Amino acid sequence: MENILLLGSGGREHALAWKIKQSPKLGDLYIAPGNSGTATIGKNVNILITDFESIKHFIINNAITMVVVGPEEPLVKGIYDFFKQDGKLKNISLIGPSSKGAMIEGSKSFAKFFMSKYSIPTSEYLNVTKENLEEGICHIEKMESPYVLKVDGLASGKGVFIIDSLEEAIKQLKFILTERVDELVVIEKFIYGIECSVFVITDGVNYKILPEAKDYKRIGEGDTGLNTGGMGAISPVPFVDKVFMKKIEKRIIIPTINGLKKENIDYNGFIFFGLMNVDNDPIVIEYNCRIGDPEAEVIIPRIKSDLVDLLEGVVNKNLFEKELIIDSRTVASVVLASKGYPGIYDKGKIIEGLDKIQDSIIFHSGTIESKGSIITNGGRVLVVSSYGENKKDALQKIFKNTKLINFEGKYYRRDIGFDI
Ligand code: GLY
Repeated sequence: MENILLLGSGGREHALAWKIKQSPKLGDLYIAPGNSGTATIGKNVNILITDFESIKHFIINNAITMVVVGPEEPLVKGIYDFFKQDGKLKNISLIGPSSKGAMIEGSKSFAKFFMSKYSIPTSEYLNVTKENLEEGICHIEKMESPYVLKVDGLASGKGVFIIDSLEEAIKQLKFILTERVDELVVIEKFIYGIECSVFVITDGVNYKILPEAKDYKRIGEGDTGLNTGGMGAISPVPFVDKVFMKKIEKRIIIPTINGLKKENIDYNGFIFFGLMNVDNDPIVIEYNCRIGDPEAEVIIPRIKSDLVDLLEGVVNKNLFEKELIIDSRTVASVVLASKGYPGIYDKGKIIEGLDKIQDSIIFHSGTIESKGSIITNGGRVLVVSSYGENKKDALQKIFKNTKLINFEGKYYRRDIGFDI
């Protein structure tokens, strides 16, 4: 039996907790810090996800056997390495890569270097620092609009700029490298196509391909307005057919796993490939060292196999022996957000109607309990996910239920899946 501590507090962690809870191999489940959704499944504990010393004490005091890391921050900050270097923690199962492995997300220049070295298809790029700023400017002048600037390092989704005007792009590049403390910007060629997200779980040698998804990042319908963490998702993605997935596996997944091995990088966990379909060829836009959110809320419900058994395969390096059965049904998800998100928004609005939901799963993102009520506590508040025989069927169930849930300022996109 595994006593599991899950780190994180979003919809992804609620979805992970929901699935872990179904495992016959689960003993106790704790979520740090969790949200009011995870509180109904396991026990929330008030520990910061980057407070490794407090996490250590909790693990020892509560006989935790496995730690599942939801978000990227603890991974990039070295939680895996902290465990491996600690005599009391080194035998605790930790699901997530080493800090070097997490650099595939934590450092855009490392990801680009890695992809070039292992011939993994990605767009052309140039690394620019203060030292070669002039070269960077000349490079932009020769490029076609729009200009893509990616600030190195974790930026919580705020490190990518897609700029139409040449003057603005040069101004922004100079500003980032001279006025801000950022040291490196990756200038990338913009690529046109349709995005999709592909996920694998790996023990560093073997891998299993999880269901793919398509995420809707813009706040406005028709993919307009500001970028968000994601306003909805759908799985499967019709254009990711067997032929396209084979190309992804051969050109991207296998060289990535082999490259990590060749670099002697410890990688036990999830890899999220953010891809673009360009004329039926997959190109990597970005890597992430975790599952996406709200992609988790559609891909995890499609995993029929025992997730804890798969996670044990990751730690014991026998993932090849494990079974991964995928539900053939569609799962869609729609995020209910607070008015103003991704800008300034209010918190503390009472959420009503959660008890009326019948054919959707409600995953909590930004919620908290206060004086007996569940109240909003984030920009993305709830994720409504439904199974369906097809996209239309899943979305119909979702939109029936989005009407039943109420909080002041509730906002959601009604066009999830519109383009596929
Ligand atoms: N939904 C995109 C992400 O999690 O990065």
